[in-house]
Amino acid sequence: MVLGRVHCAFCVVLVFQTLSYCDGQFAQKNYETISPLPFPTCRADNIDCLRRSLRTFFFLMDTGHFGMQPVDPAIVNSVSLALPEEQMTFALRRVNVTGARWTKLVERRFNLEGGRTGAVFLTDLHLTGQISMEVAGRPEPHNAFITMDIQGAESNITYVGNIQRGHDNEDYIVIGPERIAIRNRRIPTYFLQPNSEDSYIIDEALQKKPSILDHFSNEITAAIMHSVVDNFRLFSMNVPIKYYYKYYNK
Ligand SMILES: *[C@@H]1O[C@H](CO)[C@@H](O)[C@H](O)[C@H]1NC(C)=O
Ligand SMILES: *[C@@H]1O[C@H](CO)[C@@H](O)[C@H](O)[C@H]1NC(C)=O
Repeated sequence: MVLGRVHCAFCVVLVFQTLSYCDGQFAQKNYETISPLPFPTCRADNIDCLRRSLRTFFFLMDTGHFGMQPVDPAIVNSVSLALPEEQMTFALRRVNVTGARWTKLVERRFNLEGGRTGAVFLTDLHLTGQISMEVAGRPEPHNAFITMDIQGAESNITYVGNIQRGHDNEDYIVIGPERIAIRNRRIPTYFLQPNSEDSYIIDEALQKKPSILDHFSNEITAAIMHSVVDNFRLFSMNVPIKYYYKYYNK
């Protein structure tokens, strides 16, 4: 319900801003052009402005603007981890991940090695899914449902962004392949259900080796962040830079 209300408030703002933009420009604009964004243009080094824009950008994603894929909730089909020494394999399946839309921008970086540009994000995620643990020599895996809270996952994303002139004579950013490194500020917390022997056995294994949780948390956060970058790639192909960055002193 709370999300619903926030969402509605956003719609109202969106409509209002679109109207106020159209007002006075209506005569020159035709309906085919992409409507301007519901956030101001930011200087690339104005972190507060970028933070506000990122917030709105996540809402645009979740409403499927420009064909972007919603990331909250997101379903991650499967993530697995083999531990050869312990002769165990863990897998998470049908993971339902929520919380991505509240991702915070920590910093923006420019002129990194190889002409790359970067951003550091901080995310809290909540997830639910199936967990299974296979042990060598045992025919049946142990199964349970898991609920996990990831707090303070830091994503370090870098990419090469090139400016290209489109057929419409506008400049667009073309984003090359991204690299994503995840670091957890804390070991995720979790809860297993039902209250069964399988749950007990999985719990023991997770307690003994918390790096398993860290691994799953990193994989899932990285999967979400790749989707976010894919969405930004789509966005930046569709929206001229001038609508979101002040990048020339014109
Ligand atoms: C994922 O979880 C959210 C929030 O709990 C829920 O609204 C949504 O229906 C779930 N999606 C799927 C595919 O289970
Ligand atoms: C992010 O990654 C880049 C390039 O790999 C590195 O130079 C930078 O120090 C990293 N930043 C953080 C905050 O970890």
